[in-house]
Amino acid sequence: MIEELIEWARLDCLPAAQRMGLRREAAALTVRHRRLRAHWASHLQETRTAMLASARQALASAAPPRTAFLMGAGQLHDVPLDALLPLFERIDLVDICFGPAARTAARRYPDRVRCVMLDVSGVLDQPLMDPHGAVFQPPGKAWCASVNLLSQLPLAPCAAQLARGMDEQDVERYGRAIQDAHIDALNKADHAFLVIEYAQTAEGRPDEILLPGLPERLASSGWHAGAAWHWPLHPPGERATVSGRIMQSWTR
Ligand SMILES: C[S@@+](CC[C@H](N)C(=O)[O-])C[C@H]1O[C@@H](n2cnc3c(N)ncnc32)[C@H](O)[C@@H]1O
Repeated sequence: MIEELIEWARLDCLPAAQRMGLRREAAALTVRHRRLRAHWASHLQETRTAMLASARQALASAAPPRTAFLMGAGQLHDVPLDALLPLFERIDLVDICFGPAARTAARRYPDRVRCVMLDVSGVLDQPLMDPHGAVFQPPGKAWCASVNLLSQLPLAPCAAQLARGMDEQDVERYGRAIQDAHIDALNKADHAFLVIEYAQTAEGRPDEILLPGLPERLASSGWHAGAAWHWPLHPPGERATVSGRIMQSWTR
């Protein structure tokens, strides 16, 4: 608890996101990262490796991007910043919440790394707006990466709608629309990278597909599947059931 409070105090957060509890979430995530470091290390490394492969692929294209726009990168737990810096003229770290590591990087490379405080869903301050109208459109010419963000995007907005009394099925539709709008926005960029939580794993149970039909939709709109890996999200001792996620990286 005290550890989370200390982390909370170290964060800069968009007021609309803080009102929705996302500053508290970010502090809790940082503490979990520390506590589960050994269990989560391979997931973080797989994300970094997949990002780097995607960036290099974009740079080898006929119209290579000069800048990178990394969404969900406010804590830098899973971003290979040092390896990306030589590849791009400028890197924008985009998040609703920034920790000390991201702020230090921006101070260290003042012309090359920026912390861009932004709600990419667009709905945190506009809960009544259609997610497709509210979504932030990332810069089309940059290499645009969504870093372990897709599954997080609907959580706080959906919880807020439930608390306002929205019907559960409508909340589910709303959450899917937030995710679809984010993917549609990435589809408009020349070069993009995305990590999805493909399935949930739980001890003694069959895997549960979390985003049915999404891999097929990505494949049919120009995305290519990259590496897949298992993230032991709740390792033994954390909760009653040991569970995790099968992650998939995608590039287009
Ligand atoms: C689960 S974390 C992903 C892992 C993260 N890349 C890291 O380094 O730990 C999701 C990230 O997305 C950010 N985020 C959540 N909702 C967002 C939104 N609407 N716009 C921008 N960033 C958001 C969170 O603050 C958090 O940093």
